Amino acid sequence: MNTSSHVRIVEVGPRDGLQNEKALLPAAVKIELIDRLSATGLATIEATSFVSPKWVPQLADAAEVFRGIRKAPGVVYPVLVPNLQGYERALEVGATEVAVFTAASEAFNRANINASIDESIDRFVPVMERARADGVAVRGYVSTVLGCPYQGEVPIADVVRVARRLHELGCHEVSLGDTIGVGTPAKARAMLRAVAAEVPMDALAIHFHDTYGQALANILACLEEGVRVIDSAVSGTGGCPYARGATGNVASEDVVYMLHGMGMTTGVDLDRLVETGAWLAAQLGKETASRVTRARTAA
Ligand code: HMG
Ligand code: MG
Repeated sequence: MNTSSHVRIVEVGPRDGLQNEKALLPAAVKIELIDRLSATGLATIEATSFVSPKWVPQLADAAEVFRGIRKAPGVVYPVLVPNLQGYERALEVGATEVAVFTAASEAFNRANINASIDESIDRFVPVMERARADGVAVRGYVSTVLGCPYQGEVPIADVVRVARRLHELGCHEVSLGDTIGVGTPAKARAMLRAVAAEVPMDALAIHFHDTYGQALANILACLEEGVRVIDSAVSGTGGCPYARGATGNVASEDVVYMLHGMGMTTGVDLDRLVETGAWLAAQLGKETASRVTRARTAA
């Protein structure tokens, strides 16, 4: 059992957050967002996605954004890549960590990346080979771990199988995604426990969307199981464009507030994070989805 009191937050706002926002932010604003996040003490900031711009036009400026950010010492800036083409685009601008992504449900994978689970993993093999040779770290995502917008229930055995496969392929960390935010704490705990029986807990991360308002409760259950890496998005932005009805990620401000309140450390300056969340909401022209930022910035 991992009893460490330190949690690493993987800030996914610039990628998962912005990929699903209606407002198309200029590259300069995305760059400012990442630079502001770099000054909060976050150690990992997922910067953008080198996917097909036809599929996700919001992140078509990935190269410009990645080139433009100030790379703060000690901060890692992973980027999403679906295939070798994405990997090559990422390498060209100097990415040192990439993330590949697949799902535990066939129907979602087909909608999201136009491939079966096996086909998607076949596409990762050359990415992993190149990454190993280039000294680039690879993270892996498994989506729909607690439910699928097309298939409904997702058997835990499918989640375990895909997570184990990504870890065996060489992903240093596997992030378990409740893409549509339907999970509840006992289910989240059971899913994580089953995966952790096959993949070491210190190679696992959790990734909750907050569609049904269950994300913090799910995170708490998973912390009790021993996970110490949590994905979240500043201001609770985003969602997956190919997951009908899915809303934003759990807000980073809310996760950090909860963890600090529990006596755990994150290295993140909550005040700066709240400022950044409020600034981002203003850029997007909408109210923040973070309860902490709402409370702290109320007039
Ligand atoms: P496809 O149409 O099957 O691909 O899409 P293709 O290989 O046949 O290529 C079609 C066209 O795309 C070609 O261009 C390729 O060059 C181009 P054309 O000849 O038509 O001009 N192309 C690319 N262009 C730029 N970069 C690339 C790239 N690859 C192909 N990397 C593909 C397959 C995977 C490309 C597409 O389905 C795709 O990009 N999907 C991405 C969808 C996405 O980004 N979803 C959101 C991220 S996942 C998520 O949010 C979940 C997560 O947060 C965890 C959770 O919450 O569960 C991670
Ligand atoms: Mg997500």
